[in-house]
Amino acid sequence: MTTTSVSPAPKQIVLVGLSGVGKSTVGKALAQRLGWSYVDTDDLVTARDGKTPAEIITARGEPAFRDIEARAVVEATKQESVIIATGGGAFQRGANRRALGERGLICFLDATPTEIARRLRADTTPRPLVDGDLEVNLARLDAERRPTYNHADVWVPVQGAPAQREQTCDAAVARILRAWTTDGASLLAKPRRLERLGLEEPARGPAALVDTGTERYPIWVGQGELRRLPDRLRQVGLEGRRVFLISDTSVIDAHGRAVAEALDTAGIAGASYVIPAGEASKSQRTASELYAWLASERAERRDVILALGGGVVGDLAGYVAATYLRGMPVVQLPTSVLAMNDAAIGGKVAVDLPAGKNLVGAFHQPAAVISDIETLRTLPRRSYIEGFAEVIKHGLILDPTLLALLERESARIASPAPDLDLVAEVVGRSSRVKALIVSSDPEERGIRAILNYGHTVGHGIEQATGYTEYMHGEAVSVGMMAAGRLGVELGTMDQALLDRQADLLRAFGLPTAAPGVNVTAVLDAMKRDKKVEQGRMRFVLLEGPGLATVRGDVPEDLVARTVQSVLRG
Ligand SMILES: NC(=O)c1ccc[n+]([C@@H]2O[C@H](COP(=O)([O-])OP(=O)(O)OC[C@H]3O[C@@H](n4cnc5c(N)ncnc54)[C@H](O)[C@@H]3O)[C@@H](O)[C@H]2O)c1
Ligand SMILES: [Zn+2]
Repeated sequence: MTTTSVSPAPKQIVLVGLSGVGKSTVGKALAQRLGWSYVDTDDLVTARDGKTPAEIITARGEPAFRDIEARAVVEATKQESVIIATGGGAFQRGANRRALGERGLICFLDATPTEIARRLRADTTPRPLVDGDLEVNLARLDAERRPTYNHADVWVPVQGAPAQREQTCDAAVARILRAWTTDGASLLAKPRRLERLGLEEPARGPAALVDTGTERYPIWVGQGELRRLPDRLRQVGLEGRRVFLISDTSVIDAHGRAVAEALDTAGIAGASYVIPAGEASKSQRTASELYAWLASERAERRDVILALGGGVVGDLAGYVAATYLRGMPVVQLPTSVLAMNDAAIGGKVAVDLPAGKNLVGAFHQPAAVISDIETLRTLPRRSYIEGFAEVIKHGLILDPTLLALLERESARIASPAPDLDLVAEVVGRSSRVKALIVSSDPEERGIRAILNYGHTVGHGIEQATGYTEYMHGEAVSVGMMAAGRLGVELGTMDQALLDRQADLLRAFGLPTAAPGVNVTAVLDAMKRDKKVEQGRMRFVLLEGPGLATVRGDVPEDLVARTVQSVLRG
């Protein structure tokens, strides 16, 4: 008889990530908490060679430095009870990855290049690989290295406002300690882990990951993903379960067959329920119908709900999954631009009440998000365009590379026959932005608020017009113009960025004004909004491309004038 026992995690934790992301701050704090030592492979290089990595790279070139670094990595891994911080590029070599993974739990510290650039500007350590145009270089390194960083055992998002630096570091330390104590040994014992780490060309992972510290799930984005559904279910450990598919009348006609065929071929049993398309279905009445259906089908807690559709199906099916039998797994299969980039990611699920939208709900993270870009072919044109308001928002608040991509390719993306490869690239990047924010702040206590860029005025417009004239993304588009004007007035951003924003929204056919909407009604609705705290309206403002901040001190008369200006056109 063989018994498998999980031995305790070895006493090595490895930190990887871009130069400047905070490996030394987090590493030293961790070392202190555990009473371990802390080594930085760059310091080992200096100790051995008498020169800093910057000096070696400048004098002898990068390849020579990488050889010296590889020896430092081996030296570091010989120590016990140690936190090893690696130079930004050390993890790019298969042999280094394998050496580091042999006994170390590998943690990837992640923040956006723009955020790292902001931190680095306040720092004087020479970093030759990112010198010059700091942000451009960091974005290039991010793109190059992310596929390998994604092979880390633990993902640690450290995106956070400068004022929250200490909390961000504390949260990262807590997350790593939790992973090390609870899963460390089993993560290291995963089959084929070392082999995968050592591969020179690591396999491509999902487009993004959400990791809230307690829950972790992949986001797959691509063409034909629905056909791969059985494989994906297996990859997240949901094989051998019955599936309960929830969809709406429009989506089931267009895509139900593809899903049914994929499930049938794989021999996966289940049932489906189709609700009428439209927001009216996001109700407690429909939820009750779904409970009754699940009960009649004798659904069990381990079975899986599949939510195939736009945000309405995602929110409703997610809500039912959160509550039926006190919680069942849900896999989100978003089919609208809005659902792929926003609603399906982050675990907010809800139904509407007559008194207001989304008033009853829960946080229930999905087991996976699977975005099949091909489904967008049948999405009505206005919904397709509307969804890009949130994508543009993601570029503006967090990802200048995404912003530039949207600017460069707007014609091919917004076209009635869009280039789906490009759309997949854009949705992948945009999903990553949402996933990073949700992972950094799962309970919406801090940075997640920046996702409300354009939403203070946007919600005001939606409410003032009774949710009939403007689709959500259209109202947010106008709201972003109002927030942009506030930013220019208050001096947080320049006119040139506001012009870029307006040009991009127009290139997608999104509105930049809402002529004729009643100003007083919008201002009243804004004051009643749930984002008002102690009577103060909060606004997300831009400080630059990819940089946002939350302000509660915007003068009311300025707000009134600005709202008036976007409603005038
Ligand atoms: N949970 C969150 O974090 C979050 C975030 C944003 C929005 N939302 C919610 O999302 C909802 C809006 O989402 P939505 O815009 O996707 O609306 P939706 O689900 O109503 O979809 C829009 C319309 O397009 C149809 N449709 C969707 N995909 C299709 C496809 N591929 N082919 C043909 N038709 C298709 C739908 O049947 C519907 O008629 C709102 O209820 C909103 O509150 C939730
Ligand atoms: Zn929104």
